[in-house]
Formats: sequence, structure tokens, C-alpha cells
Amino acid sequence: MDMIILPSLLAADFGRLDEECRRAAASGADELHLDIMDAHFVPNLSFGPDVVAMARRAVPGLRRNVHLMITHPRKYAPRFIENGATTVQIHIESADDAAATLAEIRGKKVRCGLVLKPATPAESVFALLPQVDEVLVMTVEPGYGGQSFMAGMLPKIAALRREALRQNLPALTVMVDGGIGTETAAQCAAHGANAFVAGTSLFKLPDMAAGVAAMRKAAAAVYGKNLK
Ligand code: DX5
Ligand code: ZN
Repeated sequence: MDMIILPSLLAADFGRLDEECRRAAASGADELHLDIMDAHFVPNLSFGPDVVAMARRAVPGLRRNVHLMITHPRKYAPRFIENGATTVQIHIESADDAAATLAEIRGKKVRCGLVLKPATPAESVFALLPQVDEVLVMTVEPGYGGQSFMAGMLPKIAALRREALRQNLPALTVMVDGGIGTETAAQCAAHGANAFVAGTSLFKLPDMAAGVAAMRKAAAAVYGKNLK
């Protein structure tokens, strides 16, 4: 299983976003994670499709993983795809019909994912797993960077990986987001996660490449060990 590392642009220096995108690409990261907040689904605002387009211009080769923390993802997903999203993730708790929204995203030939808030049980997305490329377990309450990792989410990660294997979906990406550093990435990997969103822990480093490499190595070393 490949370990996928995604720096979250929310933690970048907003005064020089294009340079920060290039720094993430040069670090060996696999994809850039872009957090879209509407001050309604979550109590905060971030940025919109123009920033996704900026990232595409800055480093066309670095895939753009767009995490929609918005009430109406079905209405806005097309704009993010037009502006360069290569994956669109929607929350299962959003107001729109998830199956229909995911089908529309896939119809535009980009990857799609489902996201679960901390209080949402793994079982709520089991029936939709065949329709997604990735499932994202929030390991903090969505809305802000820099929060502490919730270890209580580890059983949910394992439940999702086990269910994906049970449904014969071995290629499903199980991703985690919130409070992820080398240590917490390894804990999640042991429980079956293979993709790691990290904002604060990576962007604060003078040497992001070392952080990406350390996270990838620590995760790969223990992947699946606590899956049971
Ligand atoms: C939070 C966002 C995260 C955020 C993670 O709602 O979904 O992607 O950037 O930030 P850190 O890694 O600082 O917890
Ligand atoms: Zn995110």
C-alpha cells in the first residue's frame, strides 16, 4: 500500500501562496489539500475556486485534493472542478444527496471522496463505499487548523478499512485530516489509513521534504498492524 502525503494549504503563508504550493511540490508530497469553508457548514471561511486555480497555475503537476466543508456541495462542485480540482471530497453530513453528488463528480472524470465528522459513525458511509475513491476521517472537528488529534477516531479508521476489504475494495484510500504529524500519522496507519493530510506540522517546518519523508516512512513501517 502506497502512503500518500497531502500538505494542507490552510496552514501556508497566505502572503505567498504560489511559493508555498511550489514548496509543497518540491517536498515530495503527493497531492495538495485545499480546505473550502462556507461559514455555514463550519463556523469559518477560507477560500474559493480561485485559490484552486492559483495552485494549478503554480504547480500544474501537483494534484489538487479539494475538501468541501460546505452545506451545498452539489451546487459548487462543478466550479471547483473547472478550476482544477482533481479530487472533490464532500461531507456525508451536508444537505445534498451524497450518491447523486458523487455520481456527478465522477461524471466529470475526477476522483471523489466522502468525509465524516468526528461524531458520524463509520457505518453511515458503508453503502456508498463502492461509489468513492477515498474516504476521509476527520480527526478534529472541521473548521480550523492547528487543533489536537482525536485518538478516539482510530477505531473508526479501522472499521472503514475492514469494511473496504470485506467489500473487496482494496484500492480504497482511507485518509485522515486534523492534528496529523509523524506520530499521529503512524497511529492512523496502524489502524488502516494510507493517506495523511497535514497542515501545521508540515508548513511550519523549514525543511518540509524531511517532514514528508519522515511521515511516509513512519506510516509505511506500521501500516495495518492494528487492523485486527
Ligand atoms: C480542518 C481542515 C484541515 C486542516 C488541518 O477543518 O480540514 O485540512 O488544514 O490542519 P492541521 O494539520 O493543522 O490540523
Ligand atoms: Zn481538510
